[in-house]
Amino acid sequence: MPALPNPAQFVRWFREAAPYVHGFRGRTFVVGFSGEVVAGRGFAKLVHDFNLLAALGIRLVLVHGARPQIEAELKAKGLRSRYAKGLRITDTAALTCVKQAAGVLRVEIEALLSQGLPNSPMAGSQIRVASGNFITAQPIGVVKGVDYQFTGSVRKVDAVAIARRLDAGEVVLVTHIGYSPTGEVFNLAWEGVAESVAVALKADKLLLLTDRPPADRRGNVLHEQSAQSAEALLKKGGLSPETTRTLKRALRALGAGVGRVHLVSRLTDGATLLELFTHSGVGTMITADAVEQLRVARVEDIGGILALIAPLEADGTLVKRSRELLEREIGNFRVIDHDGVIAGCAALYPYPEERSAEFACLAVAPQYRGADYGERLLDACEAQARELKVKRLFVLTTTAAHWFQLHGFSPATVAALPERRQSLYNYQRNSKVFAKKL
Ligand SMILES: CC(C)(COP(=O)(O)OP(=O)(O)OC[C@H]1O[C@@H](n2cnc3c(N)ncnc32)[C@H](O)[C@@H]1OP(=O)(O)O)[C@@H](O)C(=O)NCCC(=O)NCCS
Repeated sequence: MPALPNPAQFVRWFREAAPYVHGFRGRTFVVGFSGEVVAGRGFAKLVHDFNLLAALGIRLVLVHGARPQIEAELKAKGLRSRYAKGLRITDTAALTCVKQAAGVLRVEIEALLSQGLPNSPMAGSQIRVASGNFITAQPIGVVKGVDYQFTGSVRKVDAVAIARRLDAGEVVLVTHIGYSPTGEVFNLAWEGVAESVAVALKADKLLLLTDRPPADRRGNVLHEQSAQSAEALLKKGGLSPETTRTLKRALRALGAGVGRVHLVSRLTDGATLLELFTHSGVGTMITADAVEQLRVARVEDIGGILALIAPLEADGTLVKRSRELLEREIGNFRVIDHDGVIAGCAALYPYPEERSAEFACLAVAPQYRGADYGERLLDACEAQARELKVKRLFVLTTTAAHWFQLHGFSPATVAALPERRQSLYNYQRNSKVFAKKL
């Protein structure tokens, strides 16, 4: 194995990915990609990435298209593609090509997912792929005088059957083909199939591999969008037809209960992994609500809080708190939840008899620092303190004295602490006391 170019960076990155690994286990992700992706040179690597996602315990559904492959089949038979409003008109001859292309693609994708050669990223992998008649389709019919014949749309997704395969630990492969109760075969748009499957499964994530994720005027990718801001983007206009269509699809999926929609470039190697396992990602993540939430902590957050404060306890920045203590005091905590990851926390301990309160256990995860999370946590605790008629907020700190001074705190003495807190003061720690009038 070649030497790592930067071992320290690798280790740091691997550790930073831990919250995502925990968060994704057992979650359902639907990934939709076009026939161009399958035909592209990077597809084998993308399959390695799918393999990794499955190995991490993600319930994975892959939905693929086959436009260029159908084109090639038609061309080989001397036939021409016919389109209306960007949609293929599938006549009987074209349907034969659709079936051939879909069959070949399915076999090829299954073969790639079945690799397991030693010394390859698939070594030791034992993915079972399930495909089947999961999609019931209906004909689009005649629209504005154009008969689309065997071009269809999704009528129903057999979510129970898909879930059963996922429960059995299999990766589910869904093609762009649907069947009707009359036994006919329909050619469907892969984007529509991916959306319908994600909605039917109430998937945690729908990832669509697109030519280019939405970007601002300067070409910078818009990394995070709430449904509201995505709607505003659509209203403003000026987006490419593909982006407009994809954003509308994303909003429909979110409205129907899909957790997150990610639009990821199909042209960047490893984009799916970068999008899922790094803080800012490389594509566009669209969420029903704001991605970030400052809220009162819940018992389920304790694992995340412990992971956040453990390194700070180890280097002496924060006082050690056990899980039991956190369980008892969880109601005093506020957290910033960044898409399921606890990115920051702080606690408020009121001393009502003295009309004062301690602001404590302020911590922001290193990769989220410098984005005002600390200030927002302080603001939230101050607001809560005011509601409790607290007049004076104090804090004990060893290393963040300047941060507190910059946020309106002034040096104070141990004698100025509430009596109950004075008796708990640890002279060995020798923390500095700061106070702020509210
Ligand atoms: C202190 C801490 C919570 C700030 O979080 P944050 O979200 O980055 O804070 P904000 O974005 O609101 O503020 C960032 C600013 O504070 C400054 N800052 C951060 N830590 C500081 C410190 N220990 N002393 C002085 N300034 C500090 C940053 O340089 C930055 O300054 P800038 O805006 O001029 O660039 C975070 O650095 C942290 O978790 N530190 C380790 C734990 C800790 O010390 N907690 C306090 C225990 S009582």
